[in-house]
Amino acid sequence: MGSKKKTFSEACERNKAPILEVLSKYTKDKLDLLEIGSGNGQHACFFAENLPNIYWHTSDRRENHSEIQAWIKEKKLSNLKYPLEFEIGKDAFPKQSFDIVFTANTFHIMSWKKVKTLMRLLDKGLKKKNVSVLIYGPFNYHGKFTSESNENFDKLLKSRDPSSGIRSFEDVSSNMLKNNFFLLEDIEMPANNRLLVFSR
Ligand SMILES: C[S@@+](CC[C@H](N)C(=O)[O-])C[C@H]1O[C@@H](n2cnc3c(N)ncnc32)[C@H](O)[C@@H]1O
Repeated sequence: MGSKKKTFSEACERNKAPILEVLSKYTKDKLDLLEIGSGNGQHACFFAENLPNIYWHTSDRRENHSEIQAWIKEKKLSNLKYPLEFEIGKDAFPKQSFDIVFTANTFHIMSWKKVKTLMRLLDKGLKKKNVSVLIYGPFNYHGKFTSESNENFDKLLKSRDPSSGIRSFEDVSSNMLKNNFFLLEDIEMPANNRLLVFSR
């Protein structure tokens, strides 16, 4: 197991309660949930602790695993699983069967090409028919930013990586539909974020 120390995300602290409220609605039964791009594992610990009927499977690129492991190790929750190696553009979709997928703040980090790859993999890789996919983060609507802070954030993202940036809600929705997921809900979240809920 990795020896990396835990890091702490202020953003996760701020958005975890409103996200939990939505997740609770979609996780009434005993379900296996795949989280894509678990980051430092902080979200996973909070959600697994507050949704004890869910088996929460973390995943991310290999380089993030030791940090996620450090958070999970400390929590000692039987429904919280060590990270699967799942880097979009590199790895195959995890082999297990999942009932629900959650991802936060990944669509603006990955290139659009990788986002499209992910949407294809969701359709091909998820074994069950009735699967919901919940995507949290900032999105543009009708080609416009929803706030000045999102516009500045987009500039910052692109200065770090020109292939990153806030995605268009319309592009995401139409590509999800192409991959057999229809939009169930588009929920307004604090700080100009959205939670998009798709179902197959
Ligand atoms: C901004 S962080 C978000 C972390 C966490 N979900 C949160 O909301 O705090 C973006 C995450 O996407 C992951 N990521 C970036 N490119 C990826 C890829 N190609 N495949 C899988 N995960 C990726 C990063 O490793 C990182 O954990």
